[in-house]
Amino acid sequence: MNTTMASIIKVDKAATSRIQEVDMNNLDFGRCFTDHMFEMQYESNAWKTAHVKPFGPIQITPALNVLHYGQAVFEGMKAFYVDEHHINLFRPDVHHARFNRSCRRMCIPETSYEVFIEALETLIRLDAAWVPQKRGTALYIRPFIFANEDYLAARVSSTYAYHIIMSPVGAYYAEGFNPVSLTTSPDFVRAVPGGTGEAKTAGNYAASFLPAQQAQQDGFTQVLWLDAIEHKYIEEVGTMNIHFLIDDTLVTPSLSGSVLSGITRDSVIQLAKQWEYEVQERRVSIDEIMQASADGRLKEVFGSGTAAVISPVGLIAHKGQEIQIGNGKIGPLAERLYDTITGIQYGQIEDRFGWTHPVTLHP
Ligand SMILES: Cc1ncc(COP(=O)(O)O)c(C=O)c1O
Repeated sequence: MNTTMASIIKVDKAATSRIQEVDMNNLDFGRCFTDHMFEMQYESNAWKTAHVKPFGPIQITPALNVLHYGQAVFEGMKAFYVDEHHINLFRPDVHHARFNRSCRRMCIPETSYEVFIEALETLIRLDAAWVPQKRGTALYIRPFIFANEDYLAARVSSTYAYHIIMSPVGAYYAEGFNPVSLTTSPDFVRAVPGGTGEAKTAGNYAASFLPAQQAQQDGFTQVLWLDAIEHKYIEEVGTMNIHFLIDDTLVTPSLSGSVLSGITRDSVIQLAKQWEYEVQERRVSIDEIMQASADGRLKEVFGSGTAAVISPVGLIAHKGQEIQIGNGKIGPLAERLYDTITGIQYGQIEDRFGWTHPVTLHP
């Protein structure tokens, strides 16, 4: 696969900023976008000129093959306001590595880390005013690549478009932690072994919408996905990985091949190990969790993901049985993880893991 990259990013600045049109105190997730975006085309077996330009519409035709066959990958990551001179990118190296893994699974040409990080730094410097400053807020960053050949055949595209767009997001827990309720699905699975579950690809999300809608109609926040073969082992949740504190052991479903390898999941595991919890990445069945709850051994359940960081789970329903976890509040381990990860992200807690990539605004 040819991954030749341009080493210089061409920059065209927006003539005016749209920031005045945005109420930074009232941000809806992913609805408004910063002044600039990154764009790069792949054709004739190579990535072409990297370009930072004003955010705006892209031209496509109805024959665009991604619209028909879904050959697309994306990432979701964040940048955090530290002070007037610094913005922290959180774990861009591992996000980029996962981006390339998703590309390999979807037959999309990989991209270089040098262009990725230069694109992010360029965008952050140009759009620094868009990084919200309040604790809990962040700049959400969405890199994505899609097949963009105008060709109605179900085969690998020969051309691609790579973009990075950015969106300021408000505090996820503006009104305090709100534990979510999960239900297993009797009818649906998210991903099968050998399928695309561990890639961050568009179709995985489209396929989860109907079961998620049904769960919401039944009064639950999201689906707790079980494995596709035995319908027994817990995998993950909507856009989060899942963790269980059973006695003093943190149990997390192993990366089975059909689970997305969450960056926050990895941060949670590294911190829990540093705090000398026993951490087990292994298969964990829904029956084991229901039983641990009945035995009074299930102390905490929480999800992990870029959007919420840590999301406490207050209820799990499975085959007509329901278990309550905690007392409607976040548990002590989940809270410590949330405080530590966000503290590192905002540059307020020492980053011993090398997770943050500081961008200096006026180098
Ligand atoms: C299916 C799925 N699982 C888990 C996660 C959590 O991953 P991360 O912590 O990298 O955001 C996400 C979000 O990206 C997701 O879409």
